[in-house]
Amino acid sequence: MNDERKILERVLEEATGFLNDLPGRRVAARTDVEGVATALRRPLPEEGAEPLEVIEELIAGAEPGVVAMPSGRFFGWVIGGVLPAALAADWLTSTWDQNAGLLASSPAAAGAEWVASEWLLDLLGLPGNSAVGFVTGAMIANFTCLAAARHDVLRRAGWDVEGDGLHGAPPVTVIVGEERHETVDVALRFLGLGEQRSLMVPADDQGRIRLDTLTDILAQVGNTPLIVCLQAGNVHSGAFDPIAEAVDLAHQYGAWVHVDGAFGLWAAASAQYRHLVAGVERADSWASDAHKTLNVPYDSGLAIVAKAEAMYAAMGVHAAYLIQDERPDPFSTVPEFSRRARGFPVWAALRSLGRQGVAEMVERFCRHAHRFAAGLAELDGVRVVNDVVFTQVCVSFGTDEATREVATRLLRDGTAWMTPSTWHGQAVLRISVSNWRTTEEDVDRTLAAVRRVLAEVRAG
Ligand SMILES: Cc1ncc(COP(=O)(O)O)c(C=O)c1O
Repeated sequence: MNDERKILERVLEEATGFLNDLPGRRVAARTDVEGVATALRRPLPEEGAEPLEVIEELIAGAEPGVVAMPSGRFFGWVIGGVLPAALAADWLTSTWDQNAGLLASSPAAAGAEWVASEWLLDLLGLPGNSAVGFVTGAMIANFTCLAAARHDVLRRAGWDVEGDGLHGAPPVTVIVGEERHETVDVALRFLGLGEQRSLMVPADDQGRIRLDTLTDILAQVGNTPLIVCLQAGNVHSGAFDPIAEAVDLAHQYGAWVHVDGAFGLWAAASAQYRHLVAGVERADSWASDAHKTLNVPYDSGLAIVAKAEAMYAAMGVHAAYLIQDERPDPFSTVPEFSRRARGFPVWAALRSLGRQGVAEMVERFCRHAHRFAAGLAELDGVRVVNDVVFTQVCVSFGTDEATREVATRLLRDGTAWMTPSTWHGQAVLRISVSNWRTTEEDVDRTLAAVRRVLAEVRAG
């Protein structure tokens, strides 16, 4: 057997062992960061080692520190899972090692991205001629879309922001919701639009923007270069901004409307949940993640812009040594030059699930979220604090102290993984369902763990 085959077979054995063990395995890691670093640390070796030896050392040192994020009982943050076809396509992505920047550099990567883009726009109900950038995640998708927005609103005001920057430019007004995701602010910071200059629309009890205040703010700012950021899927409540009304209102003032739908945009794939994103197709740009709801391995974000020229103007690159023709190269849609061929696993996920499979997966996530909410609401003194409309559940165990203690002990217990947070001034335990592997049994085992830990906390 040649060495490459031997090492890949060893990795195959490790990977299948890991996946097979997931149902029984604790989600929590068995060691901490120091434990892993100590195991892997040695003075930088003067001489190399055999690849197989390297991989054995990596497995021995790092695997104890692996949190079982692909487990069906991982409900922290919004993490997603890994579909088998997407995982296998991801292995091929590394094996083929394509630089996906240019059409000429990889017909394979570009062709797969063309088709994945067509399928995504169809599935999400977005304009078919939109440009799609395969970026690292929703934060960079927000950045990419807002760069296109900045280009367009300033171009309409007679300003070339790519050429002249922001020095002396007409001011751009950005309107955001009170409960926007933090990464929208980071994107605005990267773009020189400032994190703190945005006008903020207060949120209602579920975290949705209040239309009455949006109306007032728009009337005050009038027709200036204007960007309005909406959200499809609040990270605590799962709630969706009133998108149709907000888009139409903002468009009356000539605004570019951007929607951060990192995990929530996928509601569009389900007939049962599509109403949550009604009107979303009338926005100008959308940020989402394939590594969340679509269950593609990290990293896989999607930046989608209806006015493709605005995206090409903001992101495009020209250099004499590249082989470019009149068609836009993939790097015209992302803030990267060289990059991984992220389209392969996205294509594979969509091909393996089909339209129906994506819809069923989204609906299953929501069913599990409701099962959690019902199971928790039955417990004495426990309160689900959000309206469960999608995949997110936030729960309070009576007092902030008790909630924090339950969250801390649950992480230590390791049966499942849910993350603590503060929402509307109150400590909560957040539960986010986003993994295709999660079964009703996983939900029930997790509920049993919560009951056990709560009893311990109450016993003192
Ligand atoms: C609404 C929203 N926007 C943006 C992000 C950032 O996504 P990413 O971690 O893929 O950059 C998240 C992450 O959970 C999110 O929920």
